[in-house]
Amino acid sequence: MTFISTSAPGKCILFGEHAVVYGHPAVAVAIDQRISIKIQPSTSGMWLLDGGTLNMSRNPHIKGLIDKLWPVEDGAPPLSIHIDGNIPRASGLGSSAALSVALAGALRLARGRLVKDSKSNDQDNWAEGYGSSISESDAYGTDNGLFVSNNGEELTLIIGKQAVDADENAILAHSVEAAAQNGRASPMDSSTCSHGGVVVISDQIEADLTHLYRRELTMPDGERFWHIHELDLGKIPEDVYLVIGSTGVNAPTSKQVAKVARMLEQNPARMEEIETIGKIARRGIDALIAGDYEAVGRTMTENQIMLKSIGVSSPELDSLIKAAAPTSLGAKLTGAGGGGCMIALTRNPKSTSDAIELAGGRTLISKLGSPGMKIDSQTEITFWTKS
Ligand code: PMV
Repeated sequence: MTFISTSAPGKCILFGEHAVVYGHPAVAVAIDQRISIKIQPSTSGMWLLDGGTLNMSRNPHIKGLIDKLWPVEDGAPPLSIHIDGNIPRASGLGSSAALSVALAGALRLARGRLVKDSKSNDQDNWAEGYGSSISESDAYGTDNGLFVSNNGEELTLIIGKQAVDADENAILAHSVEAAAQNGRASPMDSSTCSHGGVVVISDQIEADLTHLYRRELTMPDGERFWHIHELDLGKIPEDVYLVIGSTGVNAPTSKQVAKVARMLEQNPARMEEIETIGKIARRGIDALIAGDYEAVGRTMTENQIMLKSIGVSSPELDSLIKAAAPTSLGAKLTGAGGGGCMIALTRNPKSTSDAIELAGGRTLISKLGSPGMKIDSQTEITFWTKS
């Protein structure tokens, strides 16, 4: 039977976690580990997930994307969804964003896109869709906010890969992540898992980087916005790897962010440390642009010193970082800290990985800046189209 299959990478943060909450830049990189999605019309007439009944309330990301892109009320048929992949869950490596990006892309492929006048996929030419420059549609509302232009124009359906758009997949993934996390989510995971490569987010437009779009979200404590950029690594040296080491300790991001907020409330002068992380992140960006991986590694280690100083490292993270140090260019925690994962930049991935495992970590090895969402099946089919 025909199916559509897509995949999207996980991510880790190279520089700037926590300081990004206070407006400084953060640098995220897509990793080789991916989530794959396969969809096909369900033969049982019911929504299926990995062969069993799909429980919508237990799978809010999937439900959110179906609500946005697959209007059952308009006759879109139930689907059978399969999820596969090698990104560990709940470890700060973007598994839920990767799932959401891959599914958004698969559903878009499965319905195609109506466009106004040609076969161009520029957002200006869309007759329907979600995107940073589409003011008529609301990716963040609770209902299906998809506009369909019906000014009496003749519309064309485009199918296959030209119907798919990285900004649309990222905005939809951001919206369902926010909905699943009490209205709070930075677009770092969704944008990195969708675009791949290296993504920089900041409260300002950063010079020397390609600006992709501005993202806004009304969070419970007010309006927030981010500028999303792409950083072109150019030719990545063959022998530079990231080794990701998981402590196995579960530490929710919200708790770690609250801990830093409390520290700053009690002692506002410590904002200086956050500012230092911002400066380090900017130096990291320069080193990445210059392709100077020795400097990238050193800057990661400096970033770690500051993360430890603001209290978000942990004995387990410190021990894995210490184990990685002798064989790597630099190492730090990645993400919220308190547990979760660390990363080491290394030219000796096997030795670094062995050292981390000996110190009690579970490792993954990745190149720097994997490709974003990919279509892994034949593309020229749809399962339902909006008429
Ligand atoms: O643990 P992660 O990968 O979700 O990263 C959290 C990054 C923080 O800067 C700590 C929080 C945030 O919202 O940016």
